[in-house]
Amino acid sequence: MRLNTTLVINSKGGSGKTTIATNLASYFAANHIPTTIMDYDPQGSSLNWLDVRGQIERKIHGANAAPPKAGRIRSVEMFVPADTQQLIIDAPAGASGLLLQEILRRPDSIIVPVAPSTIDIHATANFIKELLLAGRVRARNIRLAVVANRVRSSMPVYQPLERFLASLGVPFLARIGDSDNYVLTADTGLGVFEMDASAEAERLEFLPIVEWVMQRRVEDGKVIELTRPRLTPRERTQSHSDPGPQSVSGQP
Ligand SMILES: Nc1ncnc2c1ncn2[C@@H]1O[C@H](COP(=O)(O)OP(=O)(O)OP(=O)(O)O)[C@@H](O)[C@H]1O
Ligand SMILES: [Mg+2]
Repeated sequence: MRLNTTLVINSKGGSGKTTIATNLASYFAANHIPTTIMDYDPQGSSLNWLDVRGQIERKIHGANAAPPKAGRIRSVEMFVPADTQQLIIDAPAGASGLLLQEILRRPDSIIVPVAPSTIDIHATANFIKELLLAGRVRARNIRLAVVANRVRSSMPVYQPLERFLASLGVPFLARIGDSDNYVLTADTGLGVFEMDASAEAERLEFLPIVEWVMQRRVEDGKVIELTRPRLTPRERTQSHSDPGPQSVSGQP
């Protein structure tokens, strides 16, 4: 199976990039899919999460794409194992210019998390414009979607963003609640797909992200759009233990 690469990015800090990236990786790991997280952030938050994860059997490889420190060779640290099927890139806040161009070389899909404040939404709308103008997204036909993160009850503040995204044809994928379980994932090195029944609500709200990421495959240089319908409610409740992304994608 060819590599499927997902970039999680927003120029705005603290929007939930690492939280989305690590939980997505946790889904694949929980379903025994060889997965690598590539961390572009000098803070190394995703790699720290992998360190906390430590000896958990469901391994996720860590690739460090942050600017090199003395005595370290970036190209070596960025190595992605050949058997990786899902590569998830965690971008740093404020990526622009040449760094942004480099980050945009790899992904099949881009997820932009946005936090629920007018300031974040405004900055995110500008960032999406910048992404689309960057050329690579259109030239490489990279899919783009937005995830609302840290949503509390009713968030009318999203309406202007939803209108803006609709005008660009960019889907609003999921609303991720403001939940202690996500904070816990950072502390434990697990993801919501590896937690007990107390994280069921988080798994359900996160699944549209997984489904969207899995919709596309590139095989032998050809892009294959998969048309399999979304998970059934029964599959959804079993998702963390059973059907695996293969059944979402329809691929063997
Ligand atoms: N849905 C959520 N519910 C509760 N807490 C969350 C949620 N998403 C993120 N957080 C918390 O918000 C903080 C920022 O999240 P995160 O590190 O994922 O953002 P980021 O975009 O990667 O930040 P940076 O720009 O610094 O890389 C973290 O403490 C994280 O645990
Ligand atoms: Mg981060």
